[in-house]
Amino acid sequence: MNSEVKHICCIGAGYVGGPTMAVIADRCPHIQVNVVDLNKKRISEWNNSDLSKLPIYEPGLEEIVKRCRGKNLHFSTEIETYISTADMIFISVNTPIKQKGLGAGQTSDLKWIEASARQISKHAKGKTIVVEKSTLPVKTAKVIKDILEGSNREMDPNERKSFSVLSNPEFLAEGTAINDLERPDRVLIGGDNKESIEALAKIYSHWIEPEKILRTNLWSSELSKLTANAFLAQRISSINSVSAICESTGANIKEVAKAIGMDSRIGGKFLKAGPGFGGSCFKKDILNLVYICNFYGLNEVAQYWQKVVDINIWQQNRIAKIVVQKLFGTLSEKKLAILGFTFKANTNDTRESPAISICKDLLDEGCNLAIFDPKVSSKKVEDDLKTKQSKGVKQNDMNFGSWRLSKTIEEAAKDADALLILTDWDLFKNIEWKEIAKLMREPSWLFDTRGITDKETVQSFGINFWSIGDGS
Ligand code: UDX
Ligand code: UDX
Repeated sequence: MNSEVKHICCIGAGYVGGPTMAVIADRCPHIQVNVVDLNKKRISEWNNSDLSKLPIYEPGLEEIVKRCRGKNLHFSTEIETYISTADMIFISVNTPIKQKGLGAGQTSDLKWIEASARQISKHAKGKTIVVEKSTLPVKTAKVIKDILEGSNREMDPNERKSFSVLSNPEFLAEGTAINDLERPDRVLIGGDNKESIEALAKIYSHWIEPEKILRTNLWSSELSKLTANAFLAQRISSINSVSAICESTGANIKEVAKAIGMDSRIGGKFLKAGPGFGGSCFKKDILNLVYICNFYGLNEVAQYWQKVVDINIWQQNRIAKIVVQKLFGTLSEKKLAILGFTFKANTNDTRESPAISICKDLLDEGCNLAIFDPKVSSKKVEDDLKTKQSKGVKQNDMNFGSWRLSKTIEEAAKDADALLILTDWDLFKNIEWKEIAKLMREPSWLFDTRGITDKETVQSFGINFWSIGDGS
């Protein structure tokens, strides 16, 4: 195996592939990095001369793309060409939950992984290291290996290609992706070919300390990714379950989280109660874990992890119910302002955002939603809520709710009966409540599901206040 990598190809120019390759290109000027994607629109957005129009919003990404694009970082739809010139190919395609057939609703749909492996087996030349970047169910590397080896068997022995498969899961979190890539807690490389592992380790060693680069077998690497996400998500479901106990008992979740987080065995991170976790990974990875456990007959273990997802759904439903109860049991003809639609701050990603299920529950109650998010378009909201934006300011129909996108917080708050903070964007921490209170219809409410506003201030302007886990 050639240990000096000079040409990298990454299949998939998404939230993972784009930022990861940008950082590799930035840190390794001697490597040509080609990011390919079958989505022409996405590639043309990556090539947009206006860097504020990149398809993915990540703090720090624009600067890197500005430095490297056209030099050693290229975005293209010529998948076959760049597969054929690469020494190392990252597979970074999406792996959504299967919609139909065996394992539907539980396990990942590997059709894009399989398609990528087939493209690689056909177009790669000579010796190629294939790296799984996508989060995958355990044992997926076997699928990739089987496809690559299968194609080889059909070849003339003199023209046979040589492949080795590595698992190199991504631990970046959206919104902090560049920092996470530049200063990771660790890099994990799983595989059974020492030379290939070292070739990949060498790339990372250009900016990451050697002791942070871990080498494991393939299955440990794949399983570590799933369980890292499961542990993180479990902390959120744990603290969210405690938020409900706080509300019933008079305790305060921020005080409880601080008190338990200061125990060095527990630690303070991932203890923020909220509307439930979103994002493309947590739910999918836990469901994959549950599926694997059931497959191996570990039914109690499967049920244990399933509960983390169940609590997450329960938390979202619970918040919608509280809003209805506080607004006299009916939302019909009421206007509610939704502040934040993305699954977390500093991203334009809405995948699995708790805002989607909460908004759907509220729409079922027949209200008008005014949605404001600094990074979300009406097209995205339409896709997520599966209903079109209402044309008028008023409700379309008495029985069905409606929604419109607002350009500012003030526009959303105008004549609203309630405001719901669903994403922890910084700009919601600095709202001028005095001005907002004047715009709203009385009795007005603030439902702060992220616990980022000050109760006394909000109440001092006559707004009723509810915050997650605040039982006082
Ligand atoms: C990543 C991981 O790959 C996924 O496994 C993880 O769970 C979430 O993060 P992400 O980068 O967020 O996925 O996905 P997405 O933004 O949808 O990007 C994937 C890209 O792959 C898309 O642009 C899609 O067009 C492209 N693709 C898909 C290909 O180029 N070829 C294919 O065959 C399939
Ligand atoms: C996650 C993992 O952190 C990352 O390592 C992995 O590679 C991909 O999945 P991401 O989904 O981008 O990253 O975001 P993350 O910061 O983990 O947040 C996930 C969800 O949990 C968000 O909806 C966030 O608002 C929520 N969250 C997070 C809380 O509700 N409370 C917390 O204390 C932390």
